[in-house]
Amino acid sequence: MKILIATDKPFAKVAVDGIREEIETAGYELVLLEKYTEKAQLLDAVKDVNGIIIRSDVIDAEVFEAAKKLKIVVRAGAGYDNVDLNAATAHRVCVMNTPGQNANAVAELALGLMVYAVRNFYNGTSGTELTGKKLGIHAYGNVGRNVARIAKGFGMEIRAYDAFCPKEVIEKDGVKAVDSVEELYKTCDMVSLHIPATPETKNSINYALLKDMPKGAVLVNTARKEVIDEDELIRLMDERGDFKYVSDIMPAAHAKFEERFAGRYFSTPKKMGAQTAEANVNAGIAAAKQIVGYLKDGIDRFRVN
Ligand code: 3PG
Repeated sequence: MKILIATDKPFAKVAVDGIREEIETAGYELVLLEKYTEKAQLLDAVKDVNGIIIRSDVIDAEVFEAAKKLKIVVRAGAGYDNVDLNAATAHRVCVMNTPGQNANAVAELALGLMVYAVRNFYNGTSGTELTGKKLGIHAYGNVGRNVARIAKGFGMEIRAYDAFCPKEVIEKDGVKAVDSVEELYKTCDMVSLHIPATPETKNSINYALLKDMPKGAVLVNTARKEVIDEDELIRLMDERGDFKYVSDIMPAAHAKFEERFAGRYFSTPKKMGAQTAEANVNAGIAAAKQIVGYLKDGIDRFRVN
């Protein structure tokens, strides 16, 4: 069996070494495609492999078509909006993610972005503190829970909204579960986004939701750029000089945001939330173990298609 790591944004070396050990101990061969610049390189690399480990790499119908021997794709991470699940199923390929494995890394970055925003991007002027501020966590999954845990240490008052997570689960963590998404935005000084990109969530963070946030509001996005209605966020930030947006996923309209909202907008140049040695090791080795478990014993825990 041949397993490919296809990562446009490579794992730390220590993670690749750990993945190699898992794969080779199972008697399989590991091949590596990193920092590729053309889709043709990916199409070529998948031709004879049985399993693939990816990150945000796009695995569409054309890739499944090219990968004639493919049995499994594991997204080393949480969001799998980059994989065409219908095409995978049509080609009888199992798709999995590795939930929770990079959650702490993303949560730490979310808090880091918050500090950066309230300290005016470290420009030397007097900012504010997180202590005593109301933090809204939009979706209480693995990342949201870690954000809550860390934010408690900052002395924040934490609220969360999750359409699918029972209130008791949220409140057990000492977090106030609010009844609606509108209430979350209306009552919180800063909101941290942790919703996946789905047809339902695309463009769902819009003017109507953001306009009622309190004065000096900060929106933190370590989720996906697609969930933001960028035109409406631009309209809101045009109207409200007090509103800040900090993101780990560069908006399509990055140049416009930068030009219009200097001092109120920041985006990392490349998604950095899960880019730590620890998260790479956790998610990468989990992915390798899941591939071996599936190919050897048919274990399909964490299958998403
Ligand atoms: C995820 O969905 O796991 C995160 O967005 C991290 O994505 P990355 O592996 O591309 O950094």
